[in-house]
Amino acid sequence: MKKIILSAVAVLVACGMATQAKNKVKAAGLNFDPTAGEERVMTMPDGSQVRYTAWERLYFVTNVEDSAYQFLNVYAPEGATQQSPILLRTYVGGYMASAAGQPQAGDASGRALKEGMVVVIPGSRGRSSTVIATKTNKKAGIKKGQTIYTGRAPAALLDLKAAIRYLRHFDSEMPGNAEKIVTDGTSAGGAMSALMGATGNHPAYEPLLQAMGAASERDDVLASVCYCPITDLDHADMAYEWLYNSTHSRQQADERVLAVSNDLKAQFPDYLASLKLHAPDGTLLSADNYLDYVKSELIRAAQIAKNAGADIPDSLGFKFSEDTGFSAPPINGGMRRSPAGRAPLGGQRAGMPMRSGGTIKKAGEYIVDLDMDKYLNYVVSTQPLKTAPAFDTKGVAEQPASGENEEFGDSNGSSVNFTEYGAMKASAYLGEDVKRNVWLMNPMNFIEDKSASVAPHWYIRHGARDRDTAFPVPINLALKLLNTGHDVNFLLAWNRPHSGDYALDELFQWIKDVTR
Ligand code: DHB
Repeated sequence: MKKIILSAVAVLVACGMATQAKNKVKAAGLNFDPTAGEERVMTMPDGSQVRYTAWERLYFVTNVEDSAYQFLNVYAPEGATQQSPILLRTYVGGYMASAAGQPQAGDASGRALKEGMVVVIPGSRGRSSTVIATKTNKKAGIKKGQTIYTGRAPAALLDLKAAIRYLRHFDSEMPGNAEKIVTDGTSAGGAMSALMGATGNHPAYEPLLQAMGAASERDDVLASVCYCPITDLDHADMAYEWLYNSTHSRQQADERVLAVSNDLKAQFPDYLASLKLHAPDGTLLSADNYLDYVKSELIRAAQIAKNAGADIPDSLGFKFSEDTGFSAPPINGGMRRSPAGRAPLGGQRAGMPMRSGGTIKKAGEYIVDLDMDKYLNYVVSTQPLKTAPAFDTKGVAEQPASGENEEFGDSNGSSVNFTEYGAMKASAYLGEDVKRNVWLMNPMNFIEDKSASVAPHWYIRHGARDRDTAFPVPINLALKLLNTGHDVNFLLAWNRPHSGDYALDELFQWIKDVTR
């Protein structure tokens, strides 16, 4: 049965979010016309073609504040049914606004179409999005002609949750099964994906969603795919310094920045203790054993890559087993040559072939240890460290505002400190409204909250040389989920920088498994 199908959503130009519910002409309703789809074809990188139907510019709220962003696009491949799983791919990056785009052959959106999934690409407001006020609203302190920032926290998340509610609202009219939504995003988009996964149906968002004119539906999802999530922003600075404080580059930083780094590093152990995380083997993690756990995750990732044939250089700090692994002798019976074409000189080196007892053996099949100092210095040699603090930078040691300082700013375009430490160092006031927004934007706060319907399945990846946030951030997210009984597939993906939508064969096998 059709639900509310009225006229197209009116394009309304904004007042501030707080005022819109009262002052806006309420648009007639949400709309989806199954007959309005357009047939299209996508050519995949292998030359194969996917036929699909596109429905675009579907506004997911009735009180549209920013008509450039608050709509979604739906793409259903030929053969999709009411039971097909849905990939909701957010293209949020840098906490910026993200307009609803089209599926890309080279990323997870195109691959999902090829795999028979319905693809949904929502737009969302972000720290950069603005509209011009069309009338004065004295109560809200808004003047006609004033630039209004529409997308400060938690607007992007609210838009994405409204998009999920829209999919549920029209579930029976639209191809795809809204009970099988898999969210996917990278970096700030990975954070959004984690938030969609962790905050399902939580009442804290309800009044905000109602004010926007989101559908009165559930907004929980089945699975969350998070690539390098830039999340847990209120603790990411301490995690960063705890991990990277001892690297050469941090030690060589300006002395005020180094002092900040030292302060932040010292805060991480208490935070970690408060989380009461356990490693998968049951060990309680504390600052005393946590670096060993990070190390074990890096070794696990490198071993997986080595097993698949990657050359893991021991110069990065890895130590290999003494035992030799078997390698077939060359067909002409001669000494095998190293990949560089030179016979190995001197003693046995990891990965180098050796003659032994008439057969050729390869040394060091197992990675048995990692010098973390060496490895962390390697990571920061591939890309310079962020400053300290890495995120709540504004006014700390006279540094400029970061994107995250803008994210927590207000509709006037302010940027603000969002941690106690940042505010203290910048002699700024950390307001209750900012604290509330920081809380709403951290998935860690909802994983154990009985009022949230947390996604049962999680796929979390963070590159093993990604320094945009420190390894403890995705590790803690994964462990908190795991410790609370969720299905978690986590990896510090070997040799990956800050990036997403990789290893798609593996990802889509996982998606198939969890949506079947
Ligand atoms: C992103 C990267 C960052 O380093 C950051 O602080 C916030 C967002 C991003 O790529 O989305």
